[in-house]
Amino acid sequence: MACSLPFSKLSLLLLFASLSFSYATSRHPAFPPQSSKAERLIRSFNLFPKEPFNTIQELHHLHTFVPGQIVETNFSFLGASGPPVEDLGHHAGYYSLPHSKAARMFYFFFESRKNKNDPVVIWLTGGPGCGSELALFYENGPFHIINNLSLTWNDYGWDQASNIIFVDQPTGTGFSYSSDKSDIRPDETGVSNDLYDFLQAFFKAHPEFVKNDFYITGESYAGHYIPAIASLINQNNKKKQGIHINLKGFAIGNGLTNSPIQYEVYPEFALQNGLITKKEADDISKLIPDCDKTAKACESRGGKVCEDALDACEAIFDKLLSIVGDLNYYDIRKKCLGPLCYDYSNVEKLLNEEKVKSALGVGKGLKYVSCSRTVYDAMLQDTMKNLEVGIPGLLEDGIRFLAYAGEKDLICNWLGNLRWINAMNWSGQKGFEASPTVKFVVDGAESGTLNSHGPLSFLKVHDAGHMVPMDQPKVALEMLKRWMGGKLMNPTPDN
Ligand SMILES: *[C@@H]1O[C@H](CO)[C@@H](O)[C@H](O)[C@H]1NC(C)=O
Ligand SMILES: *[C@@H]1O[C@H](CO)[C@@H](O)[C@H](O)[C@H]1NC(C)=O
Ligand SMILES: *[C@@H]1O[C@H](CO)[C@@H](O)[C@H](O)[C@H]1NC(C)=O
Repeated sequence: MACSLPFSKLSLLLLFASLSFSYATSRHPAFPPQSSKAERLIRSFNLFPKEPFNTIQELHHLHTFVPGQIVETNFSFLGASGPPVEDLGHHAGYYSLPHSKAARMFYFFFESRKNKNDPVVIWLTGGPGCGSELALFYENGPFHIINNLSLTWNDYGWDQASNIIFVDQPTGTGFSYSSDKSDIRPDETGVSNDLYDFLQAFFKAHPEFVKNDFYITGESYAGHYIPAIASLINQNNKKKQGIHINLKGFAIGNGLTNSPIQYEVYPEFALQNGLITKKEADDISKLIPDCDKTAKACESRGGKVCEDALDACEAIFDKLLSIVGDLNYYDIRKKCLGPLCYDYSNVEKLLNEEKVKSALGVGKGLKYVSCSRTVYDAMLQDTMKNLEVGIPGLLEDGIRFLAYAGEKDLICNWLGNLRWINAMNWSGQKGFEASPTVKFVVDGAESGTLNSHGPLSFLKVHDAGHMVPMDQPKVALEMLKRWMGGKLMNPTPDN
């Protein structure tokens, strides 16, 4: 969920020291107060996952590991008050990842409330290492959790306009688990191969949806996952490999895609928004050359230097935070009250209830891991990689790309996103830069501003922070509908 939640080296050491795979209970100590940025992040969301990642002894497996097999259940969260389970079209499943030792990927699949011919949409939450249920229950899923842990329909759930899949990935987060630590993925190759395998199996299990349009969506660190999986699908489609996935577009909300550009824009964004003075901005900006230099080395050499680059670039964000104090860096209109910026703790409570797990086909021994520190740490060298590189090829093939950003988010702010998108080299670059900025109007009110050229659209959403569908649910659903309907485009002659 976080753009690039900074975990300190201290937590890293603790984590590796505790990763002896002994299956002892409670391998890592309870969070000591104020000890690391990792814990700060988890506290920001009031989440306290009991395990650093999701693992289980073979003994307790509910499903045997049969590579490539999907086991799906139908469920109803509504009990007797709702329609019959068979009519609801709500499914949860486990997929045994074929290119793994023992990894099972968990997903929710909600058929459209309106029309089964609606597009199929997959949603990916970021982190890296946060389960997609954070979005499901607080942003764009069919339900929201209310305080007594009962559920209420979300009128603006994206299942109003799509058949939507929420996946827990990479392995180790949410309800996705493995008994073998070598299944933890360190990079986008591993992540996208697993997702591609999953989608193939999903469409094999649901052949009636193969003909539907298909869109990839997600938020935050999914700005890394999404270009990687979109490129892989497009390549395999062109090679006529596997089931043809009808990829029409991909959307990234407050994403982290071109990390160097996005880190370097922090002082400018903070100054523009009155969070710091000009002198403070100049001071912070002195850290930019080092970020830039190490990021370039990461780009050309890869490996360990990418961790140095992350440190150097994070120093910019850290210095900014040391000035702005208890500001909520997901929404600059807000303070973090106490240690909490948000309270998502109900998702852990709900999903760890035995009756809920049993309805979803989750084994008794498993705990729900909202955000996995192990999964995050494994991706440290991935964070500074610039995932923009695959996007021009997708645009040239006419695949639509929507970048949207709540304008009050600091951590993956709109300015950094617009900057890398403007700098991206593709045939429509000049056309996009010259595109007029038009109002995005919902219910007669200006809800954002839009730039668009050909398959590329950039939407800045008013009065929203990092989690746009949470802050502006109606606007977010309207955005999805118009974009999928090909209507999120400027009225320019070449459209
Ligand atoms: C789930 O429901 C669908 C109908 O929506 C049915 O075809 C399928 O067999 C059911 N699966 C299970 C495991 O009950
Ligand atoms: C939970 O809260 C909702 C809304 O306040 C209420 O309608 C419902 O009856 C409550 N459920 C329980 C089990 O208390
Ligand atoms: C932009 O991309 C085109 C086509 O790949 C390439 O020929 C050109 O050199 C690139 N321009 C820049 C400035 O990188």
